[in-house]
Amino acid sequence: MKKINGSSKAAIATVLFCLLLLWFHTMSLSMSSISRINNIIAATSSSWSSSTYMFIKNQETRVGITTMTSQQNLQLLPRVEDPMTSLISCNRSYIRYDLCTIDGSTVLDPASSTFFTVDPTSAVYVEKIKPYPRKYEDYIMGQIKELTLVSGPSSPKCTIRHEAPAIVFSAGGYTGNLFHAFNDGFIPLFITINSIYPDRDFIIVVSEYHDWWHSKYAELLKVFSKHQIISLEKDNATHCFPSATLGLISHGFMTIDQTLIPTSKTLLHFRDLLEKAYSQNPIAYPPLVPKLERRPRLVLTCRGNDVSSRRILNQDEVIRVMKEIGFDVIVFEPNRYTSLDEAYALLNSSHVMVGVHGAALTHALFLRPGSVFMQVVPIGTEWAADAFYGRIAKGINLKYLEYKIRVEESSLVEKYGKNHELLNDPSALQKKGWPTEIMDIYLKQQNVKLDLARFRISLESAYLMAKKFMHKER
Ligand SMILES: *[C@@H]1O[C@H](CO)[C@@H](O)[C@H](O)[C@H]1NC(C)=O
Ligand SMILES: *[C@@H]1O[C@H](CO)[C@@H](O)[C@H](O)[C@H]1NC(C)=O
Ligand SMILES: *[C@@H]1O[C@H](CO)[C@@H](O)[C@H](O)[C@H]1NC(C)=O
Repeated sequence: MKKINGSSKAAIATVLFCLLLLWFHTMSLSMSSISRINNIIAATSSSWSSSTYMFIKNQETRVGITTMTSQQNLQLLPRVEDPMTSLISCNRSYIRYDLCTIDGSTVLDPASSTFFTVDPTSAVYVEKIKPYPRKYEDYIMGQIKELTLVSGPSSPKCTIRHEAPAIVFSAGGYTGNLFHAFNDGFIPLFITINSIYPDRDFIIVVSEYHDWWHSKYAELLKVFSKHQIISLEKDNATHCFPSATLGLISHGFMTIDQTLIPTSKTLLHFRDLLEKAYSQNPIAYPPLVPKLERRPRLVLTCRGNDVSSRRILNQDEVIRVMKEIGFDVIVFEPNRYTSLDEAYALLNSSHVMVGVHGAALTHALFLRPGSVFMQVVPIGTEWAADAFYGRIAKGINLKYLEYKIRVEESSLVEKYGKNHELLNDPSALQKKGWPTEIMDIYLKQQNVKLDLARFRISLESAYLMAKKFMHKER
């Protein structure tokens, strides 16, 4: 083997490094139009893919999977053995996410979505990461922008210097959907900062940034970090941080596992943060009725007008029954422009929330602990109903009721007949792997027509619980 002396080693490394920079620059230019298109799709689509559901059961049972996708491109790059001294380290051993840390001074170049660190003693070392905690779901990960971490002999100049570390994640993927915004965004963000930067100041750096996302979640983002958010898409200056974390830690659907967090935080602490966020500009909603006349306030959460499935077909009659029982009924039909300030004020002042399984039920996070949450569960959504929204109820101590519809209450009866396997034995079909076509039938073709006599019984239990809660409230 030929010996290379120290200085020529450094020269080779520098040349390789310049080539690498050039390569990143070209790549980021050619990729930018593609990611713009994806951004637009994500921003305009209020929906999600039923593949979300397809993967859920698998996710809970699969262990030790590592994705190689982020490694594949590296073959194109000059690369040395993992240097033991590198400031960059990535842990890819988790099922739901990858996590990379830069344990030292780093320069972010938004134009190439790259974090640079300088290590004069080693050759160029590269890692890549998609900072979105749905690693087990190839479909959506294919749309998440990949970020690069490079350690090498030099780095771009620093334009803006920050004292606090950076935490970097993607607001792309399914983030347009409220469930996903919390499940794959804010809850993992809460877990990550409490695991990595407890009681420390940090700066949020967002990839696949959208203005609508920033304005919709502005109050919440403000209580996470007082610093201005840095967007990889909008920012064009280089930023220096003392260290950085790329990726978000997730503990599973709507879950915070306090045994995995050094600060022992729970979903109740997350709700405290929501209270803090939405008490910045409190809204009194709706006008208060004198206490003695007060009836328990029930919020019937409906899916938007643009959604044609999982609606209550006999909603007017259902509302009539609710009023007969003694509720003060408010129909809440959130859409993507609904202000979370107002939604919070409404639910935080209510005693009961009722709704059919769907992303709008994420608003249950806004109910006060002790209030009542009733989920209407259409055929075939039993597992997800519990895993997504049942867990919110457990996590923030709500009184939780599930109204599982009977076959006769499903609109699918008209199309398939009540003896079809789809209706009689959804779990059998789901065991075959939750194919998208089947989930689409349950999720996108099904409406419910509630059996008023049967539903009344559940509402009456909710009423008793709500009265008890009101009593404690005084
Ligand atoms: C990655 O995380 C796992 C689980 O926390 C841990 O056991 C392992 O040591 C970590 N690996 C590295 C390289 O940090
Ligand atoms: C950076 O962006 C700002 C505002 O978007 C613009 O005024 C400025 O010219 C840009 N600078 C560079 C170097 O592109
Ligand atoms: C939420 O409800 C609690 C208890 O009634 C109240 O103290 C708090 O001010 C409310 N928060 C907001 C933002 O309205």
